[in-house]
Amino acid sequence: MNTINIGLFGFGTVGQGIYKVIGRAANAHAEIKRICVRNLSKPRTVEVPAGLLTDNENDILDDPSINLIVEVVDNAEASYRIVTSALKRGVPVVSGNKAMIARHLPELIELQRRYDTALLYDASSCGSIPVIRNLEEYYDNDLLLEVKGILNGSSNYILSRVFDHNEEYAAALERAQQLGFAESDPSFDIEGFDSLFKLIIITVHALGVYVSPEQIFTYGIATINSHDIRHAREKRMKIKLVAQVVKVSDERFTMFVMPEFVSPSKYIYSVDDEYNGVVIRGECYDRQFMFGKGAGALPTASSILSDVMARRHGYRYEYKKMGYMNRPAYSTDVVLRVYLRYTGRDYLDGIPFLNICEMHLSEDFNYVMGDIRLSDLLACREQLSDPRVFLANIPRFFLELDE
Ligand code: HSE
Repeated sequence: MNTINIGLFGFGTVGQGIYKVIGRAANAHAEIKRICVRNLSKPRTVEVPAGLLTDNENDILDDPSINLIVEVVDNAEASYRIVTSALKRGVPVVSGNKAMIARHLPELIELQRRYDTALLYDASSCGSIPVIRNLEEYYDNDLLLEVKGILNGSSNYILSRVFDHNEEYAAALERAQQLGFAESDPSFDIEGFDSLFKLIIITVHALGVYVSPEQIFTYGIATINSHDIRHAREKRMKIKLVAQVVKVSDERFTMFVMPEFVSPSKYIYSVDDEYNGVVIRGECYDRQFMFGKGAGALPTASSILSDVMARRHGYRYEYKKMGYMNRPAYSTDVVLRVYLRYTGRDYLDGIPFLNICEMHLSEDFNYVMGDIRLSDLLACREQLSDPRVFLANIPRFFLELDE
């Protein structure tokens, strides 16, 4: 590939960041030839030459001089249509759309094989942290035990403002939106789905197994209140929204997204604001920690630029681990220790705790701490989505080897 002629889809916060970053990257030999937007007359902070913008997808898809599509549209259906159309034409794509990728990854892998082309998406997970390519290439062995971390910048920003600066939750959320960290529908951030999509993608590259979103227990921070914050502070802990995929034996692994009590000795305790932090744990090397900005225009654009550069060298994901003979199987048959804050005397009746080790009842609120199967949490999803309830994981270790 000589010059990379980019067709860019999406010119919002991230798209404008890409425009700036590509313009500064002399060694990329890349040029943005056309930008497709939904609304041509929308005001934008970055000015572009007249004629660069179009609202017709085919102006890019049918242009034979465009040899790389960069797709950062804010709509999973449009993203799916654009990415699959490009791959079917044999044109490689760089995408940051985690919701779309997490839902369609098996098909997208098949399209890459069938049309002998590439889809790169390091920007989809953890903004500027190069987690996907590292898992794919460096951690290509049987030693990996766990990938766990803070994968969503907006919820982490909100929790940091609430915990460390005593700000109101709603004000912190509004600020996360103003700063361009949050999704256009911020419920994806605060209800844990953004972390879930990233975790699904990470798991494909960590263990070679695809698990679809509806099979995975996902709980966010939307219902956290001052009782939970005080409880965490009294125990000298913070609450963080944590996504994790962890081997529970040689044959099985589990994964889930949940708020978690984090003690000061943990790496992720100090990951604040819009930063993300990923702990990779393996046999032989214990823990490694990757830290960086997980949201925002330029951090995400830097990751897109890395994928653009990688395409210069013909790089593609090979999904080698998906072909390995001994892949662990996904399981929800594991016992977690959780904190559950609720109101009402009868609320706990339908929740099958295996045992309760601490209980607090008062006029204002109640909580229990106890053990419960992950499969039962999944089965009780509806009951747990009550706005008067908050659930958090109290971390424990699954393998004796761990600690
Ligand atoms: N809304 C996402 C976040 C953007 O807050 O992490 C980056 O994926």
